[in-house]
Amino acid sequence: MIEIVSKVARQLGPSASRRVWCSSALGSFVAGPLGPEVARQGGTRREVVRLQDVSKTYAGPPEVIALRGVDLTIGAGEMVAIVGPSGSGKSTLLNIVGLLDRPTTGSVMLDGQDVSRLRDAQLSAARARRIGFVFQQFHLVDGQSARDNVANGLLYRGVRRAERRRRALDALERVGLAARADHRPSQLSGGERQRVAIARALVGEPAFVLADEPTGNLDTVTSAGIMRLLHELHAAGNTIVLITHDQSIAEQCPRRVTVRDGRIVGDERLDVDAARAAWHVHGVGPDVGEGRTEVAS
Ligand SMILES: Nc1ncnc2c1ncn2[C@@H]1O[C@H](COP(=O)(O)OP(=O)(O)OP(=O)(O)O)[C@@H](O)[C@H]1O
Ligand SMILES: [Mg+2]
Repeated sequence: MIEIVSKVARQLGPSASRRVWCSSALGSFVAGPLGPEVARQGGTRREVVRLQDVSKTYAGPPEVIALRGVDLTIGAGEMVAIVGPSGSGKSTLLNIVGLLDRPTTGSVMLDGQDVSRLRDAQLSAARARRIGFVFQQFHLVDGQSARDNVANGLLYRGVRRAERRRRALDALERVGLAARADHRPSQLSGGERQRVAIARALVGEPAFVLADEPTGNLDTVTSAGIMRLLHELHAAGNTIVLITHDQSIAEQCPRRVTVRDGRIVGDERLDVDAARAAWHVHGVGPDVGEGRTEVAS
């Protein structure tokens, strides 16, 4: 567990306060100069991630080919759902996008930089600086307060303790949990724990947030609250990639990538109006799945 937590902690935390966070009447809301429009450059989105011909084979035995020739580009400010049957390679894909794992073949570009050949320490540094992770099992440290759990996201960023704790409180405020800052995870509901995990992912202002089944352990109502938060974060310009088994959650996302047998077999986007509806904090209605178009990946 400690290994997982320290691994998670290493992945978190960035520097600069590029975004301004504020509260809305709807609860915690994020606003800032890197909104969806700003993330675009000359009409096209700045590329955050590009996978080219990525394959992944687990040595075994038995040997498993988890990904086969995957090409995937994700632009700044996108919100992408990754769907597909169990065992199809979704987590493997997310782990490679998140620099938690390396492809067997193929290249991974992060913010225009080829990270395929980085040494382990450089990879960890890139991950800590640029990527925030959220997991189905939350991965919070039981013996620590919500605030310290979030502050852990800055542990490997050379930020002093007092500053880490100050930023942690800010991040908890963004997810509407400042009032629970001193609670331990065991004193929080499942949805609140996941909010703490999201605050930890955000505290370092990463280039993007990756979430593997973030609502997988939550009931429907709590899941809706977490999705509303993710939509708010997306509307404020954050890039979010999430894996989900829940079709209704996938339908809310402006882009949906389908993985089957280690291949991307579908890549659909909502049209602009439908995407606006989906981005809206209440935009989880039944009609947002309409207006999707297939795109070449
Ligand atoms: N560390 C590993 N070693 C060997 N095989 C692995 C490893 N991790 C995953 N696999 C295999 O790779 C394939 C893809 O696994 P992956 O976890 O990416 O699937 P998934 O789509 O995330 O599934 P789920 O929806 O059940 O989480 C599976 O057949 C799995 O058994
Ligand atoms: Mg998985």
